[in-house]
Amino acid sequence: MKKVVLGVTGCIGAYKAPDLVRALRKRDLRVQVIVTRAAREFVSPLSLATVSGEPVLEHLFSDAPGEAADEGPDPTGGVRHISLTEETDVFLVAPATAHVIARLALGLADDFLTTFHLAVRAPILIAPAMNTNMLTHEATQGHLRTLRERGATIIEPGEGELACGWLGPGRLAEIPDIVEAVEHALEETATRQDLAGRKVVVAAGPTREPIDPVRYLTNRSSGRMGFELAEVAAARGADVTLVLGPTDLAPPPGQEVVRVETAREMRDRMFAAAPEADAVVMAAAVADFRPAHNSGHKLKSTGFRRENTTSSLTLVANPDILGELGAARAANSGSGPDVLIGFAAETGEPEGESIRKLEEKRCDLIVGNQVGQGRVFGLDSTQAVLVESRHGQAPSVSRREPESKRSLADAVCDVIVRRLGNGA
Ligand code: CTP
Repeated sequence: MKKVVLGVTGCIGAYKAPDLVRALRKRDLRVQVIVTRAAREFVSPLSLATVSGEPVLEHLFSDAPGEAADEGPDPTGGVRHISLTEETDVFLVAPATAHVIARLALGLADDFLTTFHLAVRAPILIAPAMNTNMLTHEATQGHLRTLRERGATIIEPGEGELACGWLGPGRLAEIPDIVEAVEHALEETATRQDLAGRKVVVAAGPTREPIDPVRYLTNRSSGRMGFELAEVAAARGADVTLVLGPTDLAPPPGQEVVRVETAREMRDRMFAAAPEADAVVMAAAVADFRPAHNSGHKLKSTGFRRENTTSSLTLVANPDILGELGAARAANSGSGPDVLIGFAAETGEPEGESIRKLEEKRCDLIVGNQVGQGRVFGLDSTQAVLVESRHGQAPSVSRREPESKRSLADAVCDVIVRRLGNGA
């Protein structure tokens, strides 16, 4: 049985929460309710516990008042706001107040609901409910935009008479519409096993090129885009290998991870994995250069400082892994991955360079991104252009709206599925 985690927040619409729980349970869904402190003013946790059949969660600490605290270590060995994420198929916040929407958009984490929001990886649905002016205020609209860009679905509020006596948009969406949105989200995640039986190899993160035993050259890649790709491909049924350069973020669990440090190590691992792969995605930010010499001992600074001289580091080119994979595939037609995908990180307009890289590296798709000025690296959201090769014709160019990296990863997997001939 699928589980919906329902966050109930403090506004008049919260009085409908027990009916919403009942409607969800009628669809054979288990419901775990989380309340905020303000929600208690509008609906009793006891009613919610009774209709859901589960104790209601509110606090992070067991010494906080209330009957259902997150009681520290749980039988699964974690804490409840983390272990609950593993059981969650959909996270629904209904009704969502302006304040909670702002806290979610900012990533604050000061109670069970907001902490859980940061930890959960299931689809997130948000049903706002508030006064018309609060809803249309640029602050609220900005927060809703942020949440949407990160991949959340906003269940639009209805129009009508509000509790404050105003007429206009702001009413919590009707319960059948909320239930339908939940079912739709569940269907989307459950049915798409369109990469089942396929092998996908993803290279992610930066590479590190040693200068001496303590120093290296690297770049700002966090590895996040590659992680999203690996996670989405695995969720859609693929057997995924992640070839990962050094990064601070932990890779998604449950996948084969091959750790590498330098571009040359990454090339060797990619060439070892590519012959078995149906699709190869180079989402890594490979260092284009490396120091010509990796000094076996630490380079000393004293000489430079005393004499106040300048010094130069001689760099040599690293292998172009994607280019080499494309050339090898072209040279041995029929061998190598059916789908070869690269990324282009450009500080200028990415379209032209993406077309050039697509042709030069002989791949099937380039995902062009604009980087720099706080864009892309380490962030959750992005705005990409997809440049795809077409047999005997000019490449197709499709501009994406701003979106989460997860949603872009889904679009890239759609291309893989289509090119592998699995329908879609
Ligand atoms: N790439 C690679 N090996 C390299 C450099 C890049 O495999 N030595 C791959 C990247 O993983 C990416 C694509 O090539 O998929 C384009 O990378 P990018 O850094 O945008 O372009 P470069 O080829 O390095 O070209 P330039 O530096 O001129 O923009």
